[in-house]
Amino acid sequence: MPLELDNADPVDPLTPESLPWSEKLQGNIINGHGRDHTANIFITLPGNVDGAKALVSRLAAGVTSAAKQETERRRFKTLKVPGETFRMLLISATGYRKLGFDEDRLSAAFDDAAQPQVQASFLGGARGAVDALQDPPPAEWEEPFRESDLDLLLIVADDDEQFLLRRCGEVLTSLPDGTLAHVERGEALRTAGGEGIEHFGYVDGRSQPLYTTWDFERDASGNPIRRDGNLVEAGGGGTKEFPPFASLGLVLVPDVLADDAEAFGSYFVFRKLEQNVRGFKLAEQALADALKLPQGERERAGAMAVGRFEDGTPVVVSRADGFIPAKENNFNYGGDGAGLKCPFQAHIRKTNPRGEAPKIDGIPPERDRRITRRGITYGDRPEHPQAAQDISALPSEGVGLLFMCFQSSIPKQFGFMQRFWANSENFLKDGVGLDPLIGQFKPDNQANPPRKAPIKQRWRAEWGGEVKDKAPLRDTHETEFLMNGFVTMKGGEFFFAPSIPFLQSLQ
Ligand code: HEM
Repeated sequence: MPLELDNADPVDPLTPESLPWSEKLQGNIINGHGRDHTANIFITLPGNVDGAKALVSRLAAGVTSAAKQETERRRFKTLKVPGETFRMLLISATGYRKLGFDEDRLSAAFDDAAQPQVQASFLGGARGAVDALQDPPPAEWEEPFRESDLDLLLIVADDDEQFLLRRCGEVLTSLPDGTLAHVERGEALRTAGGEGIEHFGYVDGRSQPLYTTWDFERDASGNPIRRDGNLVEAGGGGTKEFPPFASLGLVLVPDVLADDAEAFGSYFVFRKLEQNVRGFKLAEQALADALKLPQGERERAGAMAVGRFEDGTPVVVSRADGFIPAKENNFNYGGDGAGLKCPFQAHIRKTNPRGEAPKIDGIPPERDRRITRRGITYGDRPEHPQAAQDISALPSEGVGLLFMCFQSSIPKQFGFMQRFWANSENFLKDGVGLDPLIGQFKPDNQANPPRKAPIKQRWRAEWGGEVKDKAPLRDTHETEFLMNGFVTMKGGEFFFAPSIPFLQSLQ
């Protein structure tokens, strides 16, 4: 039976029914590749179509399919034998043009027409979306992103850093002159307990749409089990308050250029996001001072900006870290409709309102806007983020997140989320301000009066409490404080992860 993209039941990529599509789908899409070291190699294709096709098919030879990745993952679970070096190849709109596809063919193949008001489309590329997303102008991006056509992105990943670097070196040696645009190295940061974190020190990558049976608890025959009618996440997490599963249509689309009914691909966003860790930590302390948070509660200042404490504890379920399980994901904001526990502007409340976002005519419900995040941290720093004591010694540049996500539509998912949620001062409610982590603002001198800075967000000293006189947030000590501007976009591009049959068809 052909793959049904709108079926919400988790799939097993290794059943005989799934193999026809999972062997043709690149890895890292429906499950992350999980390797701690990556080389993200950006390539500019030669100007002649034959040369471009030859290079793509050569690079495509070693890509890892979803089926192979899953086989290796299971082998690692049972035998503790790590998988081979992971590879995937992505193509941008400029890359497809150099492969000889004309605009009519591309417009028919890539569905960018959905939600034109977002103005962030695959065919327009990241540079075409700068105004819509309020990104810094490309002239301010880092040089390789500014100057070159980033036609291909080859991701090579391994848990053994030296082994990865040798594989990366082989790729670079094999590239024709003038085609290497840039290499970005990703280095996963982990806590002592092995949890993935980002440079501000918070557990990251926890809440994701889940697609496969292996993400859920299974019975002896491998079928996901339900308790009280709900699936249970692998590791015992409940799913009643916030069901994390999603149908494959959230992340996959047919790869129509492949001429194969079992060939699927996915849209991919890459953004290099630099983090000013010192600035963020100083702002966190200033906010804790302004709120007069007592010792032992000062961590809540930063946690309110993220929506989770550093250990992952959601602010909406606990006033302090250490909740068990800390990485709880079975929650929503239904019991905090006035924003008394978790501020409306918190990063995770803006980017996943978990049921609160209003539906607007014709626009799909918010669950359909979820993105499948596959980012990795970059940059060296002297001390581990969670061990650093001296704020003045923290990095203000040179470290950050290579943000990456998959989706079935850039305008409907990442583009909408960044533009209309994170960058909006009026989402989730009027006047709540920007996302403190990733909200972007552009001064507007034409406005009356001119807008030079974003509005300050409002923060409460108290956690929970009561709403009095229908004036939420006015019942207790609160402060207005601008928490924003510590993440800077340094460049990026939009890509498509084509099916393996498409890559093979270029030979
Ligand atoms: C969740 C940090 C950029 C979308 C999170 C979490 C952290 C975090 C700590 C909570 C852990 C988790 O649930 O995985 C950051 C940092 C960023 C960044 C430091 C930049 C340097 C972005 C961008 C987007 C985004 C650019 C999309 C426009 C999300 C989403 C979630 C999330 C959708 C999950 C929310 C949920 O389901 O509860 N991020 N993030 N993040 N982030 Fe980011």
